Amino acid sequence: MSSISIATATEVFDLLRDDLAAVEREFAQQSVSGIEVVTEIAQYLISGGGKRIRPLLLLLSAKALDCQSPARIRLGAVVEMLHTATLVHDDIIDEASTRRGRPSSNATWGNSKCVLAGDWLYMQSFQTALAERNFRILDLLISLTQQMVEGELLQMEKLGRLINEEEYFDLIFRKTAFLFKVSMQLGAAVSEASPAIEEALGEYGRNLGLAFQIVDDVLDLTATENVLGKPVASDLREGKATLAVIHALERGTGADREAIRTVLADRAFKRVSHAEILAILNNHGSIAYAMDTAHAYAEAARQSIADLPDTDAKRALLWVPGFVTSRDR
Ligand code: IPE
Ligand code: IPE
Ligand code: MG
Ligand code: MG
Repeated sequence: MSSISIATATEVFDLLRDDLAAVEREFAQQSVSGIEVVTEIAQYLISGGGKRIRPLLLLLSAKALDCQSPARIRLGAVVEMLHTATLVHDDIIDEASTRRGRPSSNATWGNSKCVLAGDWLYMQSFQTALAERNFRILDLLISLTQQMVEGELLQMEKLGRLINEEEYFDLIFRKTAFLFKVSMQLGAAVSEASPAIEEALGEYGRNLGLAFQIVDDVLDLTATENVLGKPVASDLREGKATLAVIHALERGTGADREAIRTVLADRAFKRVSHAEILAILNNHGSIAYAMDTAHAYAEAARQSIADLPDTDAKRALLWVPGFVTSRDR
């Protein structure tokens, strides 16, 4: 294992400042349609902010391989556009009223327009990617889209049910970690990296993406809507059992299991309160268990890139997992 140090947030931001600004410009440029409402929705979403973690990963992956190609900027915009499209569709499916601290797009424009705006964003991202004339890139993006859609469908089939850890990990891999993996792989693809390097970077993305969704699911249980910028305690209300809940179901008393089962079946905190569920989770160390698991995946992500040459970009990639596990939104 190398003794390379981990960068600070400021160093990472300084390293990527110009590239991230270029991705923002590209994204804004790509979000203009001849149909006004599409442009309006797309620009509303862009201006809502967001962490931009997927383009950040793609840029770091390319930088770690010393790639200067402008394709990395276009593809950075592609992964953020794709992510934005999935958020638009996800908020319709989850009937979410807020996103990034503002009314969600579906709350503002209604479901019908947002389904179509999401489709438009998907296709716009593919069109931008197509300009690279690189089949490897299209291959990655098409399998990604199928995995994400399958993940959402699989999740729907399991709503209200008590799933096990294996089912949970399969779901979060498809719906979230696959895009993290592909973002890293695209950075390798534009750098014409060897398959072994692309594999290592992809593995980093997979591990990081799993950690990311585990933390998202913990925050859904423990955060406030003010800080998170999107609805909280929504997973249980939607009938989704996430890692901490699965842990408590396995360890809890009969009464604990019954309480969780009731919320999942009611899809509401009607007969059992959110506070009661949190107490059950804390009694069994279930939140801590989920966070420990996220930390383990974060460490696995760092290990995945142990063999990369020591560069500022690698130091930044070593920083990201800690950012993901310590974030509060
Ligand atoms: C939200 O992603 C969807 C999940 C995969 C949990 P982010 O947390 O990256 O959302 P933004 O882009 O920062 O708003
Ligand atoms: C993220 O799952 C799935 C996506 C790929 C958009 P969530 O449903 O947990 O995402 P949030 O919490 O609404 O951002
Ligand atoms: Mg959602
Ligand atoms: Mg969530």
